Amino acid sequence: VTPAELRRLVPAATERTYLNTATYGPASRPVVAAIQDFTDRWSRGVAEYLEWEAAAEDCRRLFAKLVDAAVEDVAIQPYVSATAGAIAVQLRPGERVVVDDLEYTSNLWPWLYQRDRGVDVTVIPAREGRVDLEVWLEAIGERVAITAVSAMQSSNGYRAPLARLAAATHAAGGLLFVDACQGAGGIRLNPVEDGFDFLAADSYKWMMGPRGMGYLYLSKAAQERFRPVTMGWRSGRHPQESYYGVDMDLSPSASRFDSSLSWIAVVGDRESLGLLTTIGAGRIEAHNLALAARFRAGLTRLGQETDPFRPEEHSPIVAVHLPDGDAVVQRLKQAGVIASRRATGVRFSFHVFNDESDVDRALSALA
Ligand SMILES: Cc1ncc(COP(=O)(O)O)c(C=O)c1O
Repeated sequence: VTPAELRRLVPAATERTYLNTATYGPASRPVVAAIQDFTDRWSRGVAEYLEWEAAAEDCRRLFAKLVDAAVEDVAIQPYVSATAGAIAVQLRPGERVVVDDLEYTSNLWPWLYQRDRGVDVTVIPAREGRVDLEVWLEAIGERVAITAVSAMQSSNGYRAPLARLAAATHAAGGLLFVDACQGAGGIRLNPVEDGFDFLAADSYKWMMGPRGMGYLYLSKAAQERFRPVTMGWRSGRHPQESYYGVDMDLSPSASRFDSSLSWIAVVGDRESLGLLTTIGAGRIEAHNLALAARFRAGLTRLGQETDPFRPEEHSPIVAVHLPDGDAVVQRLKQAGVIASRRATGVRFSFHVFNDESDVDRALSALA
């Protein structure tokens, strides 16, 4: 599958200029077909739920391939907030968390909420939509339990120096939590090489899957330091043999951190991840960054303001600072361009099904 072939499979890409993956990634036809087949067989009572459980193992393998991780280090966990919350409640009084104030609240409130239990949470104020590495390093200091940050920021696309943050966090005795809800599927993320301890990612944005499916990579250190919080049959070594009984034979792999599955989401996600892994995360990232760069260059020509990020901080999300964001989103919509209103103005996101004609259409609609 090439990006151009995928484009033909995504109705949102052929019917309009869809630049809103940061809100939700549109379904491709194979995803829709899998879900239709699911609802059909479900309604007629002819499906075997074990097929859907097995499909989840395909998903786990595909996600592991997408992020270059070992399959035994990947759990199925659909929501960042649930994952961050399950880690946060295990922090002890006096332990430190470092996070920045740009974070989407699913990766901010779970940590802040622990303050009344005595967890020491340092929130770094961002400046001009970003945080200097020196500021991160000073906040992490010599002792930290968790540093929490997004792979790319929901509001403006800023990419923090994740590998540097991982190294500093490890040196201070802690673990790095990466919220990759904005990122996984749209940029290349390599948790093993870059030293992340947690990578949590919902499927419904850059993985173009249904809401209700998602993944959690855990390093071995994270698996040792933290326990699964939701416990049940899916935490078993053999879930299908774990329905009854007091003998808890827990999975030795990260699957003991699994949640139970939304089967309808599983069957859709398998199709989407199949397509994305065929293209490959490296190629997807290059495609997406090139479109975002073309867009930013066009904005400069139009005199429109974006964040003054360094090249390595750029991502496929671009926020344009506009005082009348709501009106602009409506105007764009009338021109068939779908973007979203965010704090600083209007947010555009470029994914692998987009092409240069989408960028140019957005720029003419903005002009
Ligand atoms: C960076 C980021 N994290 C997480 C989420 C969603 O969080 P949850 O999985 O808790 O619904 C979003 C949604 O927009 C997001 O942009």
